Amino acid sequence: MKEINIGLIGWGNIGTGVVKLLQQNEELITKKLGARLVLKKIADIDITSPRAIKINKNLLTTNAREIINDKSISIMIELMGGYEPARTFILEAITQGKHIVTANKAMLATHGNEIFRAAQKKGVDIGFEASVGGTIPIIRTLKESLIANNIKSIYGIMNGTANFILTKMTEEGKDFAAVLKEAQALGYAEADPTYDIEGIDTAHKLAITLSLAYGCKVKLENIFREGISSISQQDVVFARELGYRIKLLAIAILHDGIVEARIHPTMIPFKHLLANVNQNYNAFHLIGDASGPVFLYGQGAGMMPTASAVVSDVIDIARDLQKGVSDRVPPRSVSESIMGNINLMPMDEIETKYYFRFSAVDRPGVLSKISGILGENNISIATVIQKAQKEDSAVPVVMTTYKAKEKNVRKALKKIDKLGIVLDKTILVRIEDELI
Ligand code: HSE
Repeated sequence: MKEINIGLIGWGNIGTGVVKLLQQNEELITKKLGARLVLKKIADIDITSPRAIKINKNLLTTNAREIINDKSISIMIELMGGYEPARTFILEAITQGKHIVTANKAMLATHGNEIFRAAQKKGVDIGFEASVGGTIPIIRTLKESLIANNIKSIYGIMNGTANFILTKMTEEGKDFAAVLKEAQALGYAEADPTYDIEGIDTAHKLAITLSLAYGCKVKLENIFREGISSISQQDVVFARELGYRIKLLAIAILHDGIVEARIHPTMIPFKHLLANVNQNYNAFHLIGDASGPVFLYGQGAGMMPTASAVVSDVIDIARDLQKGVSDRVPPRSVSESIMGNINLMPMDEIETKYYFRFSAVDRPGVLSKISGILGENNISIATVIQKAQKEDSAVPVVMTTYKAKEKNVRKALKKIDKLGIVLDKTILVRIEDELI
C-alpha cells in the first residue's frame, strides 16, 4: 500500500490531538484514503514534557528544518502558532515543494497574501480548515459546497472564549472579570486574552472567511472591531428585558459590489439559533442567494475537535496526491493571480438598530434633551426604559432605536456625552433583529 509521509511542527495541545487521531483512527483513515499516512517527524522546542500519547522517541526533533528539508515528507502540518518563525518555516517548506496544513489564523490573516501566492506559484496546496471555527467545516463549505452562491450574509460566533464569557454573564449573572478568569483556566483562551475579548481573534477569522466568501484580499485593519469588555451585567439584564441576548458577532453583508464587515457585541432575538449558541461553541449563519440559510455549529477550539479539521485537510491533500494532482481547488476560492481587494463599506455608512444606555441624572427635562439630540440626528427612538433611583444620582436610561446611520449615532452620542446631565460614557450595543 502507498505511504504518504507527513511531518508536524508544533507539538502542543492540538499537535498532540493530531497524533492521537492519526493513531486511534489509523485503520479507518487508511481505508478511506486507500493509502497509509505515516507521521515521519515531529518538531517542537519542547520534546521532553509529558504528552497524553505514546510516541516513538526517534520521531522527535527540536529542529524544524529536519522536516522542511526531508525530501520524503510531502505534507507539513504547522501547529506552532504565532507569526514567526511559523511564517518562515511555511515559506521554506513551500519552496521545498511541500503541501501545508495549518491552523494558524493570525498568521494567515496577516501574511496570507504572501503565503498563498508562494503556494500557488509552486503548485502546492494549503489546508487551513482548522483556522476558523475549529472543527466546523466553514472553509470547505465556502470554498466548495456553496461555491455557486453569492453569499448575501454571514453572521458568526467565531470566538469560544468571548462566547463562554457572555453565556456565563447571561445564565449565571456573573460579572465580566470573574468569568474571564474561569475561561482562562479552561484553556481555550488565546495566549494573550485581549485577542479573545477585544475581537482580534474574531477579526483574524472573519478576514479569512471574507476572503473565501468573496474571493478577495482583505486587510485586517480595515475590519471594524469592538470587543466585549464594556458589556456589563446591567446590559445583559436590559437585553433580556428587551427580548435579546448579547453575542460577539462577526457580521458580513453583501450590498451592491460592496461588503459591510464588522465585529462587535450584538443584541439578537433570544429565539434565534445564534442566540442559543452557548458556552464555548462557535456557529456560522450563512445565506447564499441560491442555498438560502445554512447553519453550522460546533466546537471552535479544543484538542480533538481541532485535530479533526487538521487531519481532514491532510486527507484531502493526500487524496489529490494519490491522483497525482495538486492546486485543484484554489485555497481562497479563486486563483491568487486574479484576486483583487475587497471593497469594504466604511463603518460610518452602515445602518442598523441601536441600544443605548445613558447614565443620566434623574431630573425634569433630561429625556427630552437626549431625545432632542437623537431627533436632530435623524435617529428615531423605538423603546425607552428608565428605572427610577434616588434623585440626582445617575440613573440608567435605556433607549433602542429604529435603523439609523452609524455616522449620525456617533455624532449624537458625542454631543449627548458632553451634556452636564450625562454622568458617564454612553454604552452602545448594536441590534440585529432581522436575522432569518
Ligand atoms: N481562543 C480561540 C477561542 C481558540 O476562544 O475561540 C480557537 O481559535
